[in-house]
Amino acid sequence: MRFESSRDRRLRAAREILSSSRRVAAFSGAGLSADSGLATFRDPDPDALWSRFDPIELASAEGFAANPQRVIDWYNWRRGNYASVHPNAAHRALAGQQRMIQITQNVDHLLEQAGVAPQRVYHLHGSILQDRCHNSACVHREQVDLEKPPGLRACPRCGDRLRPAVVWFGENLPQETWALARRLCTALDCLLVIGTSATVYPAAGLIALARQHGSRVIVVDPNPGAASGAADVHLDRSAADILPALLDGFDLGSGP
Ligand code: APR
Repeated sequence: MRFESSRDRRLRAAREILSSSRRVAAFSGAGLSADSGLATFRDPDPDALWSRFDPIELASAEGFAANPQRVIDWYNWRRGNYASVHPNAAHRALAGQQRMIQITQNVDHLLEQAGVAPQRVYHLHGSILQDRCHNSACVHREQVDLEKPPGLRACPRCGDRLRPAVVWFGENLPQETWALARRLCTALDCLLVIGTSATVYPAAGLIALARQHGSRVIVVDPNPGAASGAADVHLDRSAADILPALLDGFDLGSGP
């Protein structure tokens, strides 16, 4: 008789949910990339970005207007960190589920680097690999080299300033991507919530939306948080530790 720990029991319960789920999607945050060495925003550790920097100063239109050079320098510092990291076992485990949609708040492209098809990654908060024109009426966008990111410069199309193509506090999410994510979350059997404090709206509202439409919720996060209350099962492990075991042997999809 082998004693089954509560963690084993929860992993088994989560796998039972997946085995009876036809339509599964993942909703991820900074915790998914933590095991690749990228700092999260709100972890209770000194490296967490918002315990070291002021989010309004560095991730808002007001902060950009007040000191655009400081904002560009900070994002280029982050770009340097992104240039030197690689997908972890969690990204690879998710990439093994080729038919599954990845809704992510992350601006890195580690899921795509792990092999997830770009069209299956919905970046709700944009991408740090691109700059866009700060003038929302201008469509100019540029890929940037994470190793040698450009400095503060004017848009070649309209003359306004270029800035990272990420969604800042107070800015709207990319409309089409947001609509796709919302529609998907109204037709799921299970939502995998991975490495997010679920405190930033409207993105965090996807969890309640999925539940309201009958979806089960599996949370992967070593810490308790706002998502725990909505979880059918909370796996209190790091994503890199538990996702390979959670997804092993499945071929999950998100579609009808
Ligand atoms: N594996 C899984 N989860 C982890 C790990 C790990 N190895 N390490 C930390 N976590 C969890 C933390 O416990 C926390 O619940 O990941 C979560 C990270 O939360 P945040 O730092 O708030 O990041 P996120 O939820 O992505 O923030 C949402 O806030 O600042 C904005 O735009 C930014 O997209 C970001 C949004």
